[in-house]
Amino acid sequence: LIAFLQPKPLRGRRVLITAGPTSEPIDPVRVLTNLSSGKMGYAVARAAAEAGADVTLVSGPTALPAPRGVRRVDVATAQQMYDAVMADAPRADVFVAVAAVADWRIKTVSAEKIKKTASGMPPALDFVENPDILAAVARLPGGPYCVGFAAETEQLERHAMAKRERKGIPLLVANRAQDALGADDTTLILFDADGMHPLARQPKLAAARELVAQIARRLP
Ligand code: CTP
Ligand code: CA
Repeated sequence: LIAFLQPKPLRGRRVLITAGPTSEPIDPVRVLTNLSSGKMGYAVARAAAEAGADVTLVSGPTALPAPRGVRRVDVATAQQMYDAVMADAPRADVFVAVAAVADWRIKTVSAEKIKKTASGMPPALDFVENPDILAAVARLPGGPYCVGFAAETEQLERHAMAKRERKGIPLLVANRAQDALGADDTTLILFDADGMHPLARQPKLAAARELVAQIARRLP
């Protein structure tokens, strides 16, 4: 009932969201990943759908069901997430990047399981940087209104402001990694051209509803 009674400021808008971790293969039985339950991104997807938006959720591996009325595209690697997002982004009005994207992938994925050696020498893994999905969408001419998320462990304000500038996005949402990871509650701080706007500590769905209302207010 609460969901049904939400105001509909995003009616007729297309919202594209990334959520969850990405998973980068090392060999057929091992991956490199980030800690992310997907709860925040799924809450944003649900809140956007409640607000009347047409929602596409590009999701890395999570244990969560797709929110009602949300189109979910499942991906594993950052490259797959990039491809799925770029296919949809030109049509989107809003892009919210909540995913914890692996910054690096393994340069050469081993076709066979890497075995331990008698010498006890660990394998040397070479990394290459993954594409920055949010920055790429932010660069699209006539592209969607872009919102980034940043989980920081220290110097939150400084890192958040620098990240917003670096990515060329109007709105960046920051939280403390220690508080947010896997938790049901979160404390979000919004950074825009006017500065810093902290929200109360609350369940992720309530925070997502506030964020969606803030985004709707900022749309052209
Ligand atoms: N992001 C993305 N693609 C990447 C890396 C990050 O779309 N390859 C998005 C995230 O979904 C998030 C925002 O960028 O919305 C910030 O992610 P974060 O990891 O905090 O920023 P980075 O630029 O990767 O900086 P760093 O990890 O060095 O702090
Ligand atoms: Ca990163």
